[in-house]
Amino acid sequence: MKKNQIMIDEFNLIITDILSNSTVNEMKNYRQHYDTNCFEHCKNVAFYSYLICKKYNLDYEAAARAGMLHDLFLYDWRRKTGERKRWHGFRHPRIALNNSTELFTLSSKEQDIILKHMWPLTIVFPKYKESFIVSCVDKFCAIKESYEHYKKNCKVQKAYRYAYVLLSLIVLNLV
Ligand SMILES: [Fe+2]
Ligand SMILES: [Fe+2]
Repeated sequence: MKKNQIMIDEFNLIITDILSNSTVNEMKNYRQHYDTNCFEHCKNVAFYSYLICKKYNLDYEAAARAGMLHDLFLYDWRRKTGERKRWHGFRHPRIALNNSTELFTLSSKEQDIILKHMWPLTIVFPKYKESFIVSCVDKFCAIKESYEHYKKNCKVQKAYRYAYVLLSLIVLNLV
């Protein structure tokens, strides 16, 4: 078996109970960044955090598990009005942590990872290296997911432009 597949299998095994939880799966109903839903975003963050922590001999299990739960807030932050929307960036780590501890037993490191993932927006510095890594990976994934949407849209726009030019040439030749 290839090394990559072994790592993917290990990653899935670490978070298998989280992936099969029905409340966690509700994240699929909420859009996070453009075409990426909250569940996919959390899985991306969890996987890249797992890879980095494994490479540097850190607690990759905590990084994977907490990464998978870091945005378990279960609402569409774009549609909320008033307080909740305004303070979403500051408040959702606590909401995700409360939701997560209701479902799973989390170590203090895993709790810190979830609670500090919006650092430096939330001022208190991450207590563990794994928290800092997940926080950075979260930002990286947000940019990557937004960029992928932008890239896809550019391709669609380009295709429309070419189709328009082609159609115009055909019409001009016909007239
Ligand atoms: Fe978040
Ligand atoms: Fe996130």
